[in-house]
Amino acid sequence: MAGAPATNNLEAFWMPFTANRQFKAAPRMMVSAEGMYYRSADGRAVLDGTAGLWCCNAGHARPRIVEALGKQAAELDYAPAFQMGHPKVFELAARLVANMVPGLDHVFFTNSGSESVETGLKMALAYHRARGEGGRFRLIGRERGYHGVNFGGISVGGIVNNRKMFGTLLTGVDHMRSTHDLERNAFSRGEPEHGADFADDLTRILALHDPSTVAAVIVEPVAGSTGVLIPPQGYLKRLREICDQHGILLIFDEVITGFGRLGAPFAVDYFGVEPDIVLTAKGLTNGVVPMGAVFVQKKIYDAFMQGPDYLIEFFHGYTYSGNPVATAAALATLDTYEDEGLLTRAADLAQHWEDALHSLRDLPHVIDIRNLGLIGAIELEPIAGEPTRRAFDAFVRAFESGLLIRTTGDIIALSPPLIIETSEIDQLFETLTAVLKAVD
Ligand SMILES: Cc1ncc(COP(=O)(O)O)c(C=O)c1O
Repeated sequence: MAGAPATNNLEAFWMPFTANRQFKAAPRMMVSAEGMYYRSADGRAVLDGTAGLWCCNAGHARPRIVEALGKQAAELDYAPAFQMGHPKVFELAARLVANMVPGLDHVFFTNSGSESVETGLKMALAYHRARGEGGRFRLIGRERGYHGVNFGGISVGGIVNNRKMFGTLLTGVDHMRSTHDLERNAFSRGEPEHGADFADDLTRILALHDPSTVAAVIVEPVAGSTGVLIPPQGYLKRLREICDQHGILLIFDEVITGFGRLGAPFAVDYFGVEPDIVLTAKGLTNGVVPMGAVFVQKKIYDAFMQGPDYLIEFFHGYTYSGNPVATAAALATLDTYEDEGLLTRAADLAQHWEDALHSLRDLPHVIDIRNLGLIGAIELEPIAGEPTRRAFDAFVRAFESGLLIRTTGDIIALSPPLIIETSEIDQLFETLTAVLKAVD
């Protein structure tokens, strides 16, 4: 078979977030990618309906990014990240800040969304302590939230399977209710009308713990991995108001919404709500090499800049924070986004996307459809006693039909590269229609 793995032994690799036994019995291998398409090991073109894992926003194998990687590896492969620097990482931070709303003007580099989450949570706790409010130790997340897989992230996250095997997690954490409300909001187009009142759950939690013990509230502006939950109109603004009333930091986890997914550079721009900390990764380097960035307000950076100037101010960082090759990839990615207008392109496509997506509403088993920017979700009725099976069946059939989708529970999530053309949107939904008609 063309492109078959060099070894027949698939056993050694313990695959992440994968049904290992099912995969190894019937592998789905990608061997190359360009633009909007992957090529599978059996030689088929597969339309990328998910930008890889929400990260290849400019599509695949973009020459400028590829070239920058090779050049940087030859010029300066690595520079120590602690007590040393290299010029490009300062350039990248300045360019990122220029793309962000004015208040969020300092950047800390990580290597993944999960690390951005840990970094943001630690910053929030340490910020309060640096200001003499070390009694603010609680972190508030949300049910169904996804903030990566490290201990802080799964503690504030609210996806049960990601938490239940791993002991007591962080203490001092509470969760607001999820905003999912099929009864009131099924088949909403864009932001659902009902549910700003879900934010009042924060008030209830604050009353229970006393607001002066709370350091930060963390949410995904649009929850992705749990199956795409769009925030109800006014919800995020209300969260901001409640946090402001009580001196609590608001953290937006923009790991999937960052870099153009909603038709604006960040969800911060899209919703017009300014958090204190913004977590990013994925689209930062177009998925080519791992990198994350945490944006913070000046007041947070400044709170750490005290004491003798020869002392380290924040005891946190990674060997690969601002790695030169990742930095070069991020700079070339920003060039690509800027030259092609990709950070706002989703706004032009959003209506076509929404209409095409919602045309699937009468297909078998469909109980909800949701969308925002270039994000879409189709929620299927689970098969009784076999949750996730129906969506997984759709996923496998879609792959066999030349389309990559993502499923979580019984929800299909779609997030194509931002370079997608309207004809490819039509192709995506035609394939998916046939798939949904075929699943049991
Ligand atoms: C909102 C959010 N936060 C964090 C993460 C974790 O990112 P990573 O897998 O790069 O650690 C993800 C990944 O999907 C995410 O969607």
